[in-house]
Amino acid sequence: MSNNSHLNIVILAAGQGTRMKSSLPKVLHTLAGLPLVQHVINTSKKLKPEIINVVYGHGGEQVQQQINDPDINWVLQAEQLGTGHAVDQVTDQLKNEQLVLILYGDVPLIKNETLIKLLDQAKDGFSLLTMNLDNPQGYGRIVRNTNGLVENITEEKDASEEIKEIKEVNTGILAVKASLLKGWLSQLDNSNAQKEYYLTDVIAMAVKDNFTVHTTQPDNEYEVMGVNNRLQLSELERYYQQEQANKLMTDGITLADPTRIDIRGEIIHGQDISIDINTVFEGNVSIGNNVSIGANCVIKNSKIADGVVILPMSILDNASVGKGSKVGPFARLRPGAVLSENTHIGNFVEIKKSFIGLGSKVNHLTYVGDSLVGKNVNIGAGTITCNYDGANKHQTIIEDNVFIGSATQLVAPVKIGKNVTIGAGSTITMDVADDELVTTRVKQKSIRGWKRPVKNKK
Ligand code: UD1
Ligand code: CA
Repeated sequence: MSNNSHLNIVILAAGQGTRMKSSLPKVLHTLAGLPLVQHVINTSKKLKPEIINVVYGHGGEQVQQQINDPDINWVLQAEQLGTGHAVDQVTDQLKNEQLVLILYGDVPLIKNETLIKLLDQAKDGFSLLTMNLDNPQGYGRIVRNTNGLVENITEEKDASEEIKEIKEVNTGILAVKASLLKGWLSQLDNSNAQKEYYLTDVIAMAVKDNFTVHTTQPDNEYEVMGVNNRLQLSELERYYQQEQANKLMTDGITLADPTRIDIRGEIIHGQDISIDINTVFEGNVSIGNNVSIGANCVIKNSKIADGVVILPMSILDNASVGKGSKVGPFARLRPGAVLSENTHIGNFVEIKKSFIGLGSKVNHLTYVGDSLVGKNVNIGAGTITCNYDGANKHQTIIEDNVFIGSATQLVAPVKIGKNVTIGAGSTITMDVADDELVTTRVKQKSIRGWKRPVKNKK
């Protein structure tokens, strides 16, 4: 195990990201629902560093506001004069005993395991993360001597034809002792094709000072791929999603199609779960055993207990579904919907901030909001809890074994006692005592021989 108590992480995020063609700073564009730079911050935190610095430039305030993390030390690079110049802005934050790890706000999928390997190799001075590419175009090339030791990094724009042939490239990610880095940064100049202060120039300095520059490579190319435009962003999103899907399947979940699931957060789950196509998971979702989730659902920050069936086209947002319940198709569970065991919530039913008791059924075209519903209640089609008076929300209480006829309005605040039966089409404005039958509709009237109006002749 590496000891990271002296780790200083520097995340470069000052670039403008012109090719995104966006008013949003590049590092705030999202991958799997999180800003790019947030992925890098999350991975950084797993290493338990002493400090995380984020070097910002363009759209800096917006980035700080959005990320809003007191653990980050924000460092301004007012002018983008190169990667070496960017790291130099952090010099004041570098303590001699620290190991510095350089990461990039637009390289979101770097893995913890890869960084641990890199840090282990940096103990005697310097280590670089490199990669072999069939098409190395655009990258800095790793130039090695006849003994195979790293000699320098040459940027594409400064490279001879011979050097351009080299397939091993610089990913930009590196780890170096702070004491050494500080000395080398102060010697950087910008006498190169781009008139930039290249961080990569410190490699040749290290070699000159007789340090061996170690190299290590990531297991997957996508770990070091950066986002410069929206095409690359979508490519990385797919790598990320593919990996999530593979993990779910390895862990015992059946996916109808692993290319048609999106996970923007985390799923905690049991076994024997099957998930049909096109479902989106957001935030923290937990799923018990023997659960089936139909096609085209959106499930966000919700709990789904054992044996639940979620039918297609259902939306769950901060909801909890009890054991053996059945939801959908076309159901919408909004924040605070808590379903007890063996409930049925059917099509075009919306439940908000309400508890639905054991075995109760709300099967068709209904709105239940701010309500407490007891056990074995049957709520007929087209029932509405009128919870809003235009200014305030009010509660509806429906006790055990109530039967509500279709097209009923319950004008809250109102309480329906145990075993009550409400006739179809009623508008209930007053509390109803236990065991009563209540109806409010006008008695049916008939007019014999009724003639419908006819159109006037012109
Ligand atoms: C850099 C490397 C190159 C490597 C490539 C990998 C140098 C000189 N070159 O080249 O060897 O193959 O990355 O992608 O380091 N940034 C700042 N401030 C600046 C300049 C850049 O914060 O003044 C940030 C950018 O936001 C970006 C990163 O640093 O996240 C890399 O900058 P970029 O200009 O894209 O470097 P490359 O030319 O691609
Ligand atoms: Ca780049």
